[in-house]
Amino acid sequence: MSKSFIDNACTTIFFVLLVQFAFVDSKVLLKEKLPCKTFTLYLHDTLFNVTNAANATSSAVTNATGISNFQFGTLIVFDDPLTLDQHILSSPVARAQGFFFYDMKTRYNAWFAFSIVFNSSEHVGTLNLMGADLMNQKTRDISVVGGTGDFFMTRGIATLRTDAVQGLYFRLKMDIKLYECYY
Ligand SMILES: *[C@@H]1O[C@H](CO)[C@@H](O)[C@H](O)[C@H]1NC(C)=O
Ligand SMILES: *[C@@H]1O[C@H](CO)[C@@H](O)[C@H](O)[C@H]1NC(C)=O
Ligand SMILES: *[C@@H]1O[C@H](CO)[C@@H](O)[C@H](O)[C@H]1NC(C)=O
Repeated sequence: MSKSFIDNACTTIFFVLLVQFAFVDSKVLLKEKLPCKTFTLYLHDTLFNVTNAANATSSAVTNATGISNFQFGTLIVFDDPLTLDQHILSSPVARAQGFFFYDMKTRYNAWFAFSIVFNSSEHVGTLNLMGADLMNQKTRDISVVGGTGDFFMTRGIATLRTDAVQGLYFRLKMDIKLYECYY
């Protein structure tokens, strides 16, 4: 065997090991990492029905498509208050602004993308969230994909739980766990 072949082989093995260690390392780190910040917020959503404009905080902006029941294709835009407890009249600490749409033919299921906008003496900045809201599951995890201001470049997971549904109103409990914090 030529020296250069052995050199190349050694270099290749070295890089394979390096890459493997890198992957093993990051897996271990992520598994063991504890959240750097956790908090719970309640989202209050009241759907517009033409006569409740004064109280509504969300509205359908498309009609369901008729491809199935379960509202497939309906897109809902919302600007919902977020509170620290379950009461809709508690003073909001932030707002959840964004949209969701229904995306399954065979049952109710949704996909969310929204920002949590903080503008209080506690916090200024945003968290940006997105992911599948698997509505048949008791708790659903969506991703916190980033943030700004006090939440600069953060990442994490928000666990959603339907806390109440009454006619046009629903309330979500959101347990937010951030795994990367710069502030
Ligand atoms: C809309 O909702 C309000 C409050 O729940 C209710 O009083 C009203 O009758 C509803 N209007 C329609 C058109 O369903
Ligand atoms: C609208 O909200 C106010 C207070 O937030 C409440 O007193 C009133 O009953 C609500 N109206 C409807 C139609 O839900
Ligand atoms: C944030 O709150 C301050 C003080 O209440 C207000 O002047 C400002 O317009 C708010 N900013 C946003 C983006 O809502």
